[in-house]
Amino acid sequence: MELGQIGNTEDGVYCLALSPEENEAHALVQKYMEEAGMSVHMDKAGNLVGRKEGTDPNASVVMIGSHLDTVYGGGMFDGRLGVIGGIEAVQVMTEQGIEAKHPIEVLAYRDEEATRFVGSYSGAGHLTGGYDKGIMTHADKDGKTVIECLKECGIDPEHVDEAGLPKGYAKAHLELHIEQGAVLESKNLAVGVVTGICCQIRGEVTINGVASHAGTTPMNLRKDPLAAASEVMLAIESEAKNYQGAVATVGKIEALPGGVNVVPGCVKFSIDMRNQKAALRDEMYEKIKEQAETICKKRNVTIDFNVLMKDAEGKPCAEHIQDKIAKACIDSGLPEFRMPSGAGHDSSTFADFCPMGMIFIRSKDGISHNKVEYSTAEDCAAGTEVLYRTMIELASE
Ligand code: GLV
Ligand code: MN
Ligand code: MN
Ligand code: MN
Repeated sequence: MELGQIGNTEDGVYCLALSPEENEAHALVQKYMEEAGMSVHMDKAGNLVGRKEGTDPNASVVMIGSHLDTVYGGGMFDGRLGVIGGIEAVQVMTEQGIEAKHPIEVLAYRDEEATRFVGSYSGAGHLTGGYDKGIMTHADKDGKTVIECLKECGIDPEHVDEAGLPKGYAKAHLELHIEQGAVLESKNLAVGVVTGICCQIRGEVTINGVASHAGTTPMNLRKDPLAAASEVMLAIESEAKNYQGAVATVGKIEALPGGVNVVPGCVKFSIDMRNQKAALRDEMYEKIKEQAETICKKRNVTIDFNVLMKDAEGKPCAEHIQDKIAKACIDSGLPEFRMPSGAGHDSSTFADFCPMGMIFIRSKDGISHNKVEYSTAEDCAAGTEVLYRTMIELASE
């Protein structure tokens, strides 16, 4: 709740990637890490790393990480729970004098949301080689580039590569996160074991028509890209419903020049399409593109799809980590329930680097990326207990 005050407004939390608010959040979390007995540093990509040493100095690290950045008008729990939960788990170890063989690191990654800039999981991506340097020159909606923002956060853009970890560094990567959907709530469950993380395509669609006078252009002579965009959006919605587990969203739209008495000349809107399997996501994307082209041809406007980000594949959680999390649920007196993640998460960048696993907790009304995002203290505690048990098991053996 204290962390949630940073960037909090009546429209929700604005703690955007690489912003002064994200820096403030990192500074507060650094204090929490130190209080929990960890040594703390910022890596070359600006991620915060809290470390508790193990008894074997050569042992691989059990990593626990998530993010502190939010979407525009986000909630207090998305990402933050995973960082705070990790700190709490280490604090319990410190308070009880428990030693483990493996070192444990709790990480707060920069820029998970890819909502201010393009490109997902930028902070975590630096650690595992999953960062696309091409996005460095991208600008936010006020024209500020990633490079400028990195510098303002005290991160040298020339040296971000040095945050990369050597192969074999990590024994496992764990992440506790709110579900952000309504599955656990509908089943009356506090905690779920995540089976895998979806893969996304994000892009921008541009439809060009002809801007003209709203009073003098007869309906049958218009080349109206906004009316075409409306039809395309309905096609996106209906096609996504044909695919099991798929989602497709238009979250942002701009009509130009944007006058009440002007038939627009150009419309730009975002697309975000997801599934657990890349082949199914790509098939859906191609079908949507085909339908959109037909709609626009019929309406005498042109359409262009520009893919800005594309995950290569969905990322399954390691079976043996899923089993350990499931056992930790049982040991905590909770039923075992497995489910996929429709949201993207930092852990996705670790799937090809080390065994990776995630724990979900129930979200009230299934709502997230919204100021009303909420999970009860009891559910947060239940998820943290499962994280603690899984962490101790992994760090001890
Ligand atoms: C980020 O939270 C995403 O899944 O879009
Ligand atoms: Mn998140
Ligand atoms: Mn999010
Ligand atoms: Mn996310």
